[in-house]
Amino acid sequence: MHDETRPSHWEQHALNWRHVGLPLRPAGQDVRIMESLLAVHLDQAARVLLLGVTPELARLRWPDRTHLLAVDRSAGMIQRVWPGDALALDAQVIRGDWNALPLSDGCRDAVIGDGFYTPLAYPSDYHRLGRELARVLRPGGLYLIRAFVRPDAAESLEVIEADLLAGRIGTVHALKWRLAMLLHDDLATGVRLDTVWRLWDALRAQPAVADRLRQWPAEEVATLEAYRGEPGRYTFPTLTELRAALAPDFTELDCRVPDYELGDRCPILLLKTR
Ligand SMILES: C[S@@+](CC[C@H](N)C(=O)[O-])C[C@H]1O[C@@H](n2cnc3c(N)ncnc32)[C@H](O)[C@@H]1O
Repeated sequence: MHDETRPSHWEQHALNWRHVGLPLRPAGQDVRIMESLLAVHLDQAARVLLLGVTPELARLRWPDRTHLLAVDRSAGMIQRVWPGDALALDAQVIRGDWNALPLSDGCRDAVIGDGFYTPLAYPSDYHRLGRELARVLRPGGLYLIRAFVRPDAAESLEVIEADLLAGRIGTVHALKWRLAMLLHDDLATGVRLDTVWRLWDALRAQPAVADRLRQWPAEEVATLEAYRGEPGRYTFPTLTELRAALAPDFTELDCRVPDYELGDRCPILLLKTR
């Protein structure tokens, strides 16, 4: 049952943030890929919009005189996760909704974000966000994203269980993402977070699985409790579906696939407005 007294999903995420790891947060390799793309494609003194407050992105080595504006609707994420004054560049954060950005047309040179399609509903939010970003970006403006995508062919629970028992899953977050993508329906339906928790709860009841889970820090394993009773859904497009959703507003310039665990489900795409 959903408990109205507990923090909302993203407020909870903010509380758990230091226990969230790869692949949910960008790795050093993602940072290097993004910095190399920005070095080639982004001019100095660019006005950049960050969707969310992902610290690894705020802390990228930006071209000189970059101005960064971060927008997130969660007060908890802003308060607990945004690096703020610790940043070496001219940066600002505001609380707001990406679907109605308080920004004038064409006022941004680039938009960047990490994993932010996941909490959006398809097709409504995907298309609304695409139009809104195309509005605030100048013509030819850049769009740099690390997205979470599900494989074209769903894997089986047996494979995930075998990998878990054999120690082939590196973090509880990788397990979380594999379970969520396994249970994912079509893109319009996505996956309900409580459904992920239920499968997880059944898995951990097996003594051999419970033994394996002790290899991971208890606080990281406990992040799955944020999914318990959570009616919200995540969506994981395939890469083909993501490209189709981006195509009306953006042209793809580059796509890089990191080689860490599940890196093939975390591609980095560089696009520009049409
Ligand atoms: C950028 S996404 C993914 C972050 C990270 N990669 C992860 O999964 O742990 C998460 C952030 O998006 C924010 N968010 C989600 N939908 C939003 C919207 N429509 N407008 C503004 N912020 C939103 C949440 O508040 C949260 O801070």
